[in-house]
Order: sequence, then structure tokens, then C-alpha cells
Amino acid sequence: MKIGGKPYRSIWREADGSRWGLVKVIDQRWLPHELRIEALRDRATFATAIRDMWVRGAPLIGATAAYGMAVQMAEDPSDASLDETWELLHATRPTAINLRWALDDLRDRLRPLPEAERAAAAYARADAICEEDVEINRRIGEHGLRLIREIAARKPPGEPVRILTHCNAGWPATVDWGTATAPIYQAVEAGIPVHVFVDETRPRNQGAQLTAWELNSHGIPHDLIVDNAGGHLMQHGLVDIVIVGTDRTTANGDVCNKIGTYLKALAARANNVPFYVALPSPTIDWTVRDGLKEIPIEERPAAEVTHVQGRDAEGRIVTVQISPDGTGARNPAFDVTPAHLVTGLITERGICAASAEALAAMFPERAGAS
Ligand code: MRU
Repeated sequence: MKIGGKPYRSIWREADGSRWGLVKVIDQRWLPHELRIEALRDRATFATAIRDMWVRGAPLIGATAAYGMAVQMAEDPSDASLDETWELLHATRPTAINLRWALDDLRDRLRPLPEAERAAAAYARADAICEEDVEINRRIGEHGLRLIREIAARKPPGEPVRILTHCNAGWPATVDWGTATAPIYQAVEAGIPVHVFVDETRPRNQGAQLTAWELNSHGIPHDLIVDNAGGHLMQHGLVDIVIVGTDRTTANGDVCNKIGTYLKALAARANNVPFYVALPSPTIDWTVRDGLKEIPIEERPAAEVTHVQGRDAEGRIVTVQISPDGTGARNPAFDVTPAHLVTGLITERGICAASAEALAAMFPERAGAS
């Protein structure tokens, strides 16, 4: 998508005269205030970038891990290095399944190869994972557009379709397009008026800092709302559809996503608002059936709850404490929305029910494998 009219992806390889070039990312910790680009040169920096959320969002975490493996294979293509890098990167964040998916994919492909061929194969596969992610999201956009078009057709001409989204499942969370935002971008391209309600998404404020920023950059009408406002808006008939992303969806359709998603799903069900999840297939964990019991939920530092980051009047990025000294905090970063609260899953192959049967019918080649 675009920043200041210039096309960008969230991660890319840039020629620098060396054999493989440099892997670069947008350091998302400073958005929307500053656009900082970082080069990731070794596996330790890749691990830091994922753990400390320079990059974040399930698909982008997977793509970053793939490049991390490639960079390390150029350094040391041995079996020991392959396994150590898998462990190092896998330990960075526990919930988004795309991380394990990408690392397993790379390791399975590289292991049978002679060491001399591993770096080239790893870079090629990391590049391919990025291109596949872009295409998956473009297709999710096409299928989600159908939903938005149907809602628009029931409204008086010119009245916007009002979409509520949570966290950032936009293009910075993927390689491009975003998952939940792809249908929104495509609706705008198709001339359908939309209005997006953006949950601020405490504690890291990915809605306020990233989703609002990208919608703003693309001129898409939106309002930032506090996390507690969504239920009220739904009660008053002000939301036509909820579309969120996911960090891991189980084989039976339980959806793990950013903390607070579950409350939105409850409010949506209570108010007959359709609740859809944009789901790229690498985010399906076919090995898990009970999302509540089996998905590890990341606990992040208490300081993310007790402090907030913003920009002061002089334009400096500052972190301020909002709670008393001595108050502790719990910070579960994700929650699980049970499948029965999900109206449908928007995948790259089409829209299906959040159920084991529907997911298996959509991805028959994966459903049997675990
Ligand atoms: O903690 P984050 O910012 O990595 O969490 C991101 C989310 O929860 C997104 O909604 C999810 O990864 C879907 S991204 C397409």
C-alpha cells in the first residue's frame, strides 16, 4: 500500500551490492509519529524485531522469521544452525501460528538440501512466502468485498457501509493489503462508500497508532473509538459488520486474536451484527481443536498497561505512566472467540462457516494432516 503516496511493503529485500541484499522492515514502534526503516542483518536482530514488536501481526511475523532463517543460512548453513535458529525465532512470540508455520516450512525444505544450496533456497522461499501472502490477502479482499457489496445494496445510495475493526489487521500486519482491511481497500476501489470504526486496542494501541494511520494515509473515512465504545455503537445500529484478523484459528473455527476481540464478538451476537474473521490459511492451526484450552496466550510486560506512548507538544515520542506507583498489572495479549460466535471466516478460497466441517471442505488437502 502507500505512505505519502509512495508504495511500500512492510518487509522487503533491498540490493546493497552484497550477494543476498539487505532485509528491511518498517519499525512499527514509532508509527504514526515517525517512519523509521531498519535493516535486519543477523538472526539475533530478527529475534529482537519480532519479540519487541518492531514488526507484528501474524502474517508479517511469519515472513520475518522466514527471512531470519535465510540470513542465518548465508552465515552458517549447518544442521545445528538450522535447528538453533528455529528455536531462537520460535521462542520470540507464542501465539501467532504463522511463526511456527513459516519456520517449519523453511526447515522442512532446507534439511534435505546440501549445505551449499541452503541459503539460496531459503531466500527464494522467504521471497515466495511474501508474494503468497500478498496474493492471499488480495483474494481475501475479493471475497470480503462481496459481503460489503451486499450490505451496500440494502442501503440508500451513498450511505456508507459501517465496519468496525479491532487491533491492526491492516497492511502493516501482513506483507501488503492486510487481512481485515483488504475488503475495505477493495470496496473503496470499487466505489462503495465505507466508514470504519477503529478500536484503539489497548494496551499497545495498534488501532490508534497503525489502523488509523493507514486508513488516514489512504483517505478512507474512519473514527477512532475507545475499546469500550463498540457495544454501544452496535446497540444503536451504527455498525453494519465487524471484520477482524486472527493470530491463530483452530481446525474447528475458534478464533484467537488481539485481546478484546471476544468482547466485540459477544456484543455483535447480542445485537445481530455479523462478525467476520479474515483468515489466511497459514493462520489455521490444524493441530488444535479447542482454542480455549490449547492456544498459548502471550503475557506481555505490565508496563504496557501501566504506561502509554504518545507524542508531546514538541513532537517528541514520550512514554507516560497512567497508574499509581505500586499497582501491578496483568497483560494477556490475545483472547479466544469461540467458533459459535463467528458468523463466517473470509479465507483466500472463499467464505465459510467457523466449523471443522466447513474448514475441512475449504482446505481438504490440509484438514487430514496435523
Ligand atoms: O500483538 P500483535 O500486534 O502482533 O497482534 C496482531 C493482531 O492481533 C492482529 O489482529 C492479527 O495478527 C491479525 S493480522 C493480519
